Amino acid sequence: MLMTWSIQQRGVRRLGIDVETVYIALGSNLGDREEHLNRAIERLKATPGVAVVACSSWLETEFVGDGPEQGRFLNGVLKANTSLPPLALLGVLRALEVEAGRRSPHPRNHPRELDLDVIFYGDQEIDSRELQVPHPRWHERAFVTSPLRELGVNLDQRPRAMGTRLAHEAAKVCEQVSDWLRGGCVVGLVPTMGSLHEGHASLMRRAKAECDRVLATVFVNPLQFGPGEDFDTYPRDLERDLGVCEAAGVDTLFAPSASGMFASEFASHVGVGAAAAEMEGAVREGHFSGVATVVARLFAMTRPHRAYFGEKDAQQLVVVRRMCADLGFPVAVVACPIVREPDGLALSSRNTRLTAEDRRAAPVLYRALCAAGDRFKDGLRDRDLLVRCAQDVLATEPRCAVDYVELRRARDLAPLAAADAVCGARMLVAARFGDVRLLDNVALNDEVAP
Ligand code: PAJ
Repeated sequence: MLMTWSIQQRGVRRLGIDVETVYIALGSNLGDREEHLNRAIERLKATPGVAVVACSSWLETEFVGDGPEQGRFLNGVLKANTSLPPLALLGVLRALEVEAGRRSPHPRNHPRELDLDVIFYGDQEIDSRELQVPHPRWHERAFVTSPLRELGVNLDQRPRAMGTRLAHEAAKVCEQVSDWLRGGCVVGLVPTMGSLHEGHASLMRRAKAECDRVLATVFVNPLQFGPGEDFDTYPRDLERDLGVCEAAGVDTLFAPSASGMFASEFASHVGVGAAAAEMEGAVREGHFSGVATVVARLFAMTRPHRAYFGEKDAQQLVVVRRMCADLGFPVAVVACPIVREPDGLALSSRNTRLTAEDRRAAPVLYRALCAAGDRFKDGLRDRDLLVRCAQDVLATEPRCAVDYVELRRARDLAPLAAADAVCGARMLVAARFGDVRLLDNVALNDEVAP
């Protein structure tokens, strides 16, 4: 049953102090749930600067989201007038949660005695580390929308969180990141060339779990393609990419035009040293300079705390780390594991360009790496024999034209010196199937999949 209270102006003075109407979602799925919720209301009614106006009836709902199995929630929404500034109100709510027995900090998505979320604070939009209002997911949650309706809120007139914002201009993105940084947010960057797949999404989800705000970029970088490479035919589908970003919880997707990224008089390129001239660098001249230049440009533009790269492109990861240390970017470069198809083929935007026969043949790359991994686990430490083992498997597939198979030191992918242990070293392979070039690698340690 909807409960309303006559507004007592307890502490809420209208003499020059702004009073805002706020909506607070309440939830509990641990202990005496109704008692927790009722007690929170009583405590809020007694809080100076807060006048509770009305509260929806309680709704029983299943837990949604990922987390341990847990009991059903009792939810509702409360309407109040307040003279407390947003963060002061948030402080009161957090204190009430702790008073109800909730641990602080509380493990994400675990059962809780009391959950109090600010859904709306007047018409204000706040995007700080501690508080985002309107609540980013209010419109997706029936246990919020139906109590709001009961309280007479016209949901159509309320701003929805925008999901992933799409920005094409560098100035817009810089402004957005500045707002996040001012709000104390940890910012994560996921640079990509689009045609997003589950590998990219895994980077985004990791960034979302570790950062307060995530910026992804989609830019097919002309600087890293050589003449005759697939720059023109590289798959592009921004609308689909935006959907992948939304699902992964990306806050902003930056998709600049070539001129938005590099001014017409652009002339400065990052040199990347001799190590980047081997393997991929030997086959694709200038490729890593192009990668390092665009990544440096992105770091300078977006000032992230953390940037996420896939181990799939192991040499790129080493080049980026080196560049970051050499040029002094204060960015933590985070390496993320390779995501594979069920048959072992590493996901890649280029896989879509394989013919059906080549697609069937391509998992030979991972099979070859695993064969070497198995021999390693059986105790083989001879470097040449380990490489030969992978080569032998690759040779069984006539559609596969091998560019290289290398066993390298993990830290910098330098050739293994006599003193370097094979354990932890990385085995890398590059091969062509028709005109599609694919990469893969594994670390030789106990975790190599059979
Ligand atoms: P792109 O090929 O789009 O890859 C973007 C990021 O996704 C890279 O860090 C890459 O290693 C990672 N990634 C790709 N496939 C993956 C998989 N199967 N599992 C895990 N991670 C994967 O790499 C680039 O773009 C560009 O060179 C870029 C860094 C954006 C600079 O232009």
